[in-house]
Amino acid sequence: MSGQPQSPEISSSENSPCDNSSLADMRRNYQRAGLSKADCPDSPFEQFTAWFEASKAASPGDWFEVNAMTLSTATPAGSVSARIVLLKAFDERGFVFFTNYDSQKGTELAANPHASLTFYWGPLERQVRIVGFVEKTSREQSEEYFHARPRASQLGAIVSQQSSLVPNRAALETAMQQLETQHEGKEIPVPEHWGGYRVVPTEIEFWQGRPNRLHDRIRYRKEGKAWVLERLAP
Ligand SMILES: Cc1cc2nc3c(=O)[nH]c(=O)nc-3n(C[C@H](O)[C@H](O)[C@H](O)COP(=O)(O)O)c2cc1C
Repeated sequence: MSGQPQSPEISSSENSPCDNSSLADMRRNYQRAGLSKADCPDSPFEQFTAWFEASKAASPGDWFEVNAMTLSTATPAGSVSARIVLLKAFDERGFVFFTNYDSQKGTELAANPHASLTFYWGPLERQVRIVGFVEKTSREQSEEYFHARPRASQLGAIVSQQSSLVPNRAALETAMQQLETQHEGKEIPVPEHWGGYRVVPTEIEFWQGRPNRLHDRIRYRKEGKAWVLERLAP
């Protein structure tokens, strides 16, 4: 706690700025498209590629990050956490993002490799859910991506002990300046604690919003080496 008095608007539920009646009225009747098993190729990666490309083409301006996805992880005891990360590569092996291996998500994944990814592509009224387990990307792939990032982002990855407590913002900025001076004119080494994870899928579900809440849900489920296609109730 900062010890600062809180404003009554924020601390009092009676004066809550949130208008619950308007929330209750917020809903969309989805009607842009449909999805059937007959539309789906044998490979979920092919289906993902088609939807990802369509989402890129339909995204409204620069702010909409189609590669933003919610990563859910859990401790072995079943305590769940979720956060957004950026998809940086995908192929038939799985879906890759980069992060700090010592962060909360990294610690959870080290103890329990099960993970889930969720994409919401609002402009096309679509959701994709991926369930699987993680493996670390090769050191080469992590290093290649690290060096492709802007220099300041590379330094930021070293400065930030992601998910740990920091006394204030100034501490981060001072550490950043010191690192800049230390590495001036030199290649920045990839920290040991930084790298990629690949989510290797066992299930991928494609959700297309439909009128009257009768949405289409087509799920690919891995059985041995094959993918089985199933329709789920909305
Ligand atoms: C749009 C967006 C993209 C993000 N991309 C990443 C990313 O690729 N990697 C990452 O480690 N954190 C990313 N973050 C920050 C995470 O959401 C999160 O705050 C951070 O990874 C710490 O999570 P943790 O404490 O659960 O480990 C992103 C956040 C947003 C909003």
